[in-house]
Amino acid sequence: MSGAGTFYITTPIYYVNDVPHIGHAYTTVAADVLARYWRLRGCEVFFLTGLDEHGQKVQQAAAKAGIDPQVHCDKLAPQFETLWKKLSISNNAFIRTTDPEHTSIVQQYLNKLHDKGLIYKDSYTGWYCTFDERFWTEKDIESGLCPDCKRPVEKISEHNYFFKMGQYQDRLIEHIKTQPNFIRPESRRNEVLGFLQTQKLGDLSISRPKSRLSWGIELPFDSNYVTYVWFDALVNYRSALEYLPREKPIGNRFWPASVHLVGKDILTTHAVYWSTMLMALNLPLPETIFAHGWWTVDGEKMSKSRGNVVDPYKMADEFGADAFRYFLLREVPFGQDGDFSHAAMITRVNSDLANGLGNLLSRTLTLIERTQTGQIPVPGTIGPAEREIEQATGSLLNDLLPRHLEQLEFNRALEATWQVVQLANQYVDKTAPWNLAKHQDEAERLRTVLYTMAETLRCLSLATYPVIPNSAQSICNQLGIATEFTSPLLTSKIEWGGLKPGTIIHKGPSLFPRIESKPGASLVTESSVPSQSTAAAPIATAAPTPPTPPPITIDEFMKIQLKTAKVLSAERVPKSEKLIKLQVSLGTEQRQIVAGIGKKYEPDALIGKTIVIVANLKPAKLMGIESQGMVLAAGDADVQGLITIQEEVDPGTKVK
Ligand code: MSP
Repeated sequence: MSGAGTFYITTPIYYVNDVPHIGHAYTTVAADVLARYWRLRGCEVFFLTGLDEHGQKVQQAAAKAGIDPQVHCDKLAPQFETLWKKLSISNNAFIRTTDPEHTSIVQQYLNKLHDKGLIYKDSYTGWYCTFDERFWTEKDIESGLCPDCKRPVEKISEHNYFFKMGQYQDRLIEHIKTQPNFIRPESRRNEVLGFLQTQKLGDLSISRPKSRLSWGIELPFDSNYVTYVWFDALVNYRSALEYLPREKPIGNRFWPASVHLVGKDILTTHAVYWSTMLMALNLPLPETIFAHGWWTVDGEKMSKSRGNVVDPYKMADEFGADAFRYFLLREVPFGQDGDFSHAAMITRVNSDLANGLGNLLSRTLTLIERTQTGQIPVPGTIGPAEREIEQATGSLLNDLLPRHLEQLEFNRALEATWQVVQLANQYVDKTAPWNLAKHQDEAERLRTVLYTMAETLRCLSLATYPVIPNSAQSICNQLGIATEFTSPLLTSKIEWGGLKPGTIIHKGPSLFPRIESKPGASLVTESSVPSQSTAAAPIATAAPTPPTPPPITIDEFMKIQLKTAKVLSAERVPKSEKLIKLQVSLGTEQRQIVAGIGKKYEPDALIGKTIVIVANLKPAKLMGIESQGMVLAAGDADVQGLITIQEEVDPGTKVK
């Protein structure tokens, strides 16, 4: 938090050279979660996102479309604004760098630095990467290619204006050293520090001649130049505060920013360029710059040319905004790279949302409807099981949730929340309220159990609201409680028992309908799909989380014949993205195995590998092709890694 009770959070402003993708959605959803959380904590929040509309990329995209750059920006901007509405993003402002107010503030800042003698003109020769819009030195480039994006660079010699960035090197090192939260996560902080401590920080070219780039903000002191896209873009974090809020200006109350969220690729521009610009302007530095990781898709880099760009609109249409938001933050620790796959998304929705939280709500409401004439019952005497739940929800809301969210450990916050969901579902399984309902003398116990379930859900609505705001609201509506989530609900300790007995519930549609996965989406062959135990409560509408399978004896395990096999050949099964047909040697025999590992592996990469197979599995047909066994791999529906033997082992060797 910056200052007393304010929280200012920003996302990068996105280039309008193309439509939004999962990367844009990721940062914006994460920022939204923090904004919603801090509002619950009673903070005055300013959440800013927007668009970076100048520069070569946008100019080129407009030229390609044969339209004026401003028309191009105006055409694409609604794609972002509409997406943010669709994903329930609660930004307070949306900046576009072609706004005249932003342009004039950038020019004011340029003038200020120029007047202070911190901007000078010089000639410069370097290798220029059009894609990244930056110069590289001779030693940076590798075989004529940009070290960052690997595209060809061109040698350019020209006069430009430079910002005296280099003179702030020591001050910046000192700042990073003394402010451990300034650059996060820690590994990224060490990277930036390492670079600053071993290389001389040069000055920054902040202009482009108009002859080369016309789509930019003109330098106020030389009309032959426009400013460099990064100088223009970074200023948005300040300029927005000056002209976008209805109540103006709010700059001083919200500065410095609490968190600038960025992707790992643009950390240097923020941690080094922006920080030194702020030093030169005598403005305090942000409290935290947090760099998150990148998403790959089915194990591959996401790119237009690969045709695997994840469209957030489609994700929200197919799964719902809340489920997509949940997946993005639950699947991968914030700060690390992660992999997106359709199968992983379905697994999360079904196991955590439909079977977990959704099932808890529907069981609770159905039972209250049927046995308590739709009213929250008065609880009776509580026992150890109720105390355990009460204690767990208290520790979630008053300790774990704030601790993890304030550290931007979204996955851990969700993990802790879903432990309570699981505990509550287990409590329902154990107490079996549907049985209690059959016995008149258990009426009080039944009321206690149902009250405990409903009150847990009320607490869970608070805990889940930042990530799945629509579902949290729906939980409250269905419980019959009017909850205004925009008010500061988490300012004091949350006490158990807030739900008033007598409240009339309004059971609605299920929170998260189960998604049936498409055929061929799983590695498991037809003959080996374990029949899932559905020890469901009779009244439950969705299947509860499958319990851990019971232990097996060594004899039972020994029935499974595991053997090493050497891959002789591998080819894709036509019309399937997942299936690969393998010919493997077991020493004395050869087998054909069809494995669902095609999203993770290219067939050629498998040849020669020694893998492990289930050798005595009944043959099954997959897409009409016989599979004589099953390969072992780590991962659930989504394969993460094949089990291979590193050492030279004869094919057909027993594995146990
Ligand atoms: N316009 C600049 C930012 C200026 S901020 C003052 C820019 N725009 S961008 O549209 O190219 O990228 C925006 C963000 O998307 C970056 O934070 C980048 O890390 C993120 N991502 C792009 N691809 C991504 C993934 N595959 N995964 C996660 N985030 C990714 O850079």
